[in-house]
Parts: sequence; C-alpha cells; structure tokens
Amino acid sequence: MFSTKPYDEESLRAANNGMHELVFLETRLSVDTAALANGADAICAFVNDDLGAEVLSRLSSGGVRAIALRSTGFNHVDLDQAKALGISVVRVPAYSPHAVAEHTVALLLALNRKLHRAYNRVRENNFALPGLLGFDVYGRTVGVIGTGAIGAVFANIMIGFGCNVIAVDPYPSDVCVNAGVTYVTRDELFQRSEIVSLHCPLNDTTRHIIDEASLSAMKAGVMILNTSRGALVDTVAVIDALKSGQVGYLGLDVYEEEGPLFFQDLSNTVVGDDVFSRLLTFPNVLITAHQGFFTAEALANIAATTIANLTEVTVGGHLTHEVR
Ligand code: NAI
Repeated sequence: MFSTKPYDEESLRAANNGMHELVFLETRLSVDTAALANGADAICAFVNDDLGAEVLSRLSSGGVRAIALRSTGFNHVDLDQAKALGISVVRVPAYSPHAVAEHTVALLLALNRKLHRAYNRVRENNFALPGLLGFDVYGRTVGVIGTGAIGAVFANIMIGFGCNVIAVDPYPSDVCVNAGVTYVTRDELFQRSEIVSLHCPLNDTTRHIIDEASLSAMKAGVMILNTSRGALVDTVAVIDALKSGQVGYLGLDVYEEEGPLFFQDLSNTVVGDDVFSRLLTFPNVLITAHQGFFTAEALANIAATTIANLTEVTVGGHLTHEVR
C-alpha cells in the first residue's frame, strides 16, 4: 500500500479485518521504490503515485499482477502498458461524491465572502469590512463541466441555492435535467457562467480545458473552481487572467504540478515552484491541497471498496471495478 498516511492505514486495516496481508508504505510509488513491492501479488496506489510504463514493468518483474487504485481518477496509469503486462487495474469508482461536491461549495462560499481573509482579520482585532464585499450566490449562473457522480451533486446543491445551473457533458443525465440543469454547448457555458466548476475527468479532450482562449470567452470577473484534476487548468494562462481581472476568483483543490507538493508537510522547506508561489500571492485565490475526498465517510468507503477489489483480484474472475 503505497503513499499511505496514518488515516489510510487506520481505515484500510479496519476494512481488511485481517483478510489480506497488507504492508503499509509511506513512500510514493516511483521507479526507485517499485522494488519494495517485489513478491507482492498486488499493490495499492493513490493519485500522485507514478504508474507510468517503467514503473509498471518493474512491478510486473517483481510479481505484481494487480493494481488497486484508492481513487476514482486513473489518468496517471499507463493502461496500455498494464494491459500488455497482464496487470489488472481496479479503482474506486464512487466513494462519496458528496465529499468533493461539498468541498467545492466550501471553496465557492469562502472565496465569495472572503472567509480566508475575514478569519485572519478578526484574529487581529480588525473588524473593518472594506475588501470583504461579496455577492448573492442566489440567481447566479453556474456552469458545471461534467455532470457525473460529483458534478451532479454539486449541480443539485447550486440549484438549492437558487442558481441557474447550465452544464456540458457528452452524456447528459436525465436526473440532472429533471432537477433543473440545462445542457448547453461548451462555448455557451463559458459565455454565460458567472461561476465555472470542473467535474470532468482529465483526458486528451479535457486537458487545459481552461486555457487562454476559453478564459477570454468568459465573463469578466468569473469564478473558476477546480476540484477535479490540476491539468484541466492551464495555470500560466489563469495567472495572466487573474492579473488582468478577467478571472475574479480562483478556487483550487488540485494543481497541475501538485505531485512534488501535496500530501506532505513542506513548511520547513523552500518551495521551488514559482508558478505555484505566484498563485499564492493573489488575495482572490484559495487553494486546498487535494482534500476534497477527505471525509470520514469517504475514507471508509474507499477502504471498503479497495479491500473488496483486492478480494476479487485474489479470487480471480470478473473484476467489478476494473479500468480498461
Ligand atoms: P464521473 O466519471 O462520475 O463523472 C465524470 C463526468 O465527466 C461524466 O459524466 C463524463 O461523461 C463527463 N465528461 C467526460 N468528458 C467530458 C468533457 N470533455 N466535457 C464535459 N464532461 C465530460 O466522475 P466523478 O466521480 O464525478 O469524478 C469527477 C472527477 O473528480 C474525477 O475524474 C477526478 O479527477 C476528480 N476527483 C477529485 C477528488 C478530490 O479529492 N479533489 C476526489 C475524487 C474525484
């Protein structure tokens, strides 16, 4: 079990209940650490583990024949190579869409009402309000890109706020339509939305879906929320748009180059990523470090599905949550 923190170990041990022999490693999976899995039947990995061709070859040489992802996203796995090596890849398709959708709403509200700034002000006995002006979310047009498990929950919450919710998805959902979501084209979504929230997977059609062209098509002062995958947003382009005021608010739970940063305490080191450091200088940018999934319910569901996936791998036959 690579990239495991104490909270992962606790939930996985509870779900395992002694069934499988689990070895917990805090280290990330990489070319250098793949050999730690030698002799294991399966490995378990998280979002920033390296599952590229070379790592998969090394795992295969060490006897690994299955990879259990503790995540929904699988964009970091070289699936062609896994197939060529006969390694099965299983994932956790949905563990708590509410966890990520609610975190997205937390970013939206905090950015709008500037809670991150208000918190610090009040602690310094600064009770002045200038600079904290927000807007009513009620009645705003919210554009949702991807109305799968998470996007649908987010859309529903925003409908509850009294927003006008428009969406794009190659597979529109009847449930969303019945709840009041209107599907539009991507261009229309960019033009009409005051808040754009990303809930689609990262793939060749969605990489940098937020780039210079799409940003310039949006309303001035738009709010952009990304709790999906970092590379959906061209960070350099968004920084330019923040500088010009085209983007009025940016809420991120994921970052294009989060691999070397997130899930670690780097408070005693100098961060060398100048693009990330620039993002942190904006008062209207709020970043959390990939914590959207981090609720008690989600951790328990991730652990339960991961152990069930590993059991299926051991038994052989049909794998319910296989990624092909
Ligand atoms: P899902 O598979 O249920 O939904 C994704 C939706 O995006 C589908 O309806 C799909 O048709 C749609 N889609 C695909 N290509 C699209 C395109 N080009 N434009 C618009 N829509 C498109 O996935 P789910 O569970 O809702 O997760 C969404 C993403 O959230 C995941 O791919 C993952 O990257 C991210 N995520 C982030 C977490 C966090 O902790 N911040 C935790 C879990 C997932």
